[in-house]
Amino acid sequence: MGDMIVVQDLVKNYGNFCAVNHISFTVPEGKIFGFLGPNGAGKTTTIKMLTTILDPTSGFIRVNGHDPVHERKQVRRSFGIVFQDPSLDDELTALENVDLHGALYGVPRGERMKRAQTLLELVGLWDRRDDLVKQYSGGMKRRLEVARALLHRPRILFLDEPTIGLDPQTRNHIWGYIDTLSKEQNVTVFFTTHYMEEADRVAAECAVIDHGKIVAQDTPAALKQQTDSATLEDAFIALTGHAIREEEGNVMDRMRMMRAAWRGGRR
Ligand SMILES: Nc1ncnc2c1ncn2[C@@H]1O[C@H](COP(=O)(O)OP(=O)(O)O)[C@@H](O)[C@H]1O
Ligand SMILES: [Mg+2]
Repeated sequence: MGDMIVVQDLVKNYGNFCAVNHISFTVPEGKIFGFLGPNGAGKTTTIKMLTTILDPTSGFIRVNGHDPVHERKQVRRSFGIVFQDPSLDDELTALENVDLHGALYGVPRGERMKRAQTLLELVGLWDRRDDLVKQYSGGMKRRLEVARALLHRPRILFLDEPTIGLDPQTRNHIWGYIDTLSKEQNVTVFFTTHYMEEADRVAAECAVIDHGKIVAQDTPAALKQQTDSATLEDAFIALTGHAIREEEGNVMDRMRMMRAAWRGGRR
């Protein structure tokens, strides 16, 4: 079992602005890996470089052993992706959306139907397969996107903020499904989130990114232990000196930092 993703000294500049600033990390095969950070930290930019959408300014990347700049095709066959913004066709049924994806990836028709059934059953949508996607709730759409991303049997699943805007119960369900999928299909999962408690629950390992730099990489338990924090949210504050959700800034920020300092947490 090797590393599915290797990143060394990766940089992305947009003009004079450095969005990703010399980051390095590795993701072991079969693991669920969380990439945590606030809005604007550089998470989506990193995913875009890993998935051939954006060329790096400099640095080294291997995805399933391939270079996203020079071996685009091999890299693209290696992963499925759920984008931050929804990308389903609302005017098609759920099954049609999944089937179309399989056709685009050249999966034979009979095989497409078999896999679609397995995956839609796994995410609890098989009974609703003939409904138009525009009749789906936000949570159902997310589950459908996850199933669709796996139809061509990728070894890696990228999820960019897969639960953003969903209610806590639906978020729990989605993570349950992803956990099952990763175990049953032995898929390596790379996800981004700014919900710390989710990462705490599902990530085997995580990297914390802030202002384009990785400030820590470890298991959630180790990150909490290192910072003497009860929750990953507190660990994040101890590591970065500020809270993850901007709207909680100021008062909550200061209270948490004081609490971390009081407990002797490092900053
Ligand atoms: N195409 C772009 N041109 C210029 N700046 C960008 C572009 N895309 C993202 N940025 C900036 O880069 C930073 C990182 O963005 P992003 O990777 O989307 O962060 P995240 O996904 O963590 O919220 C932000 O400050 C953002 O405004
Ligand atoms: Mg983003």
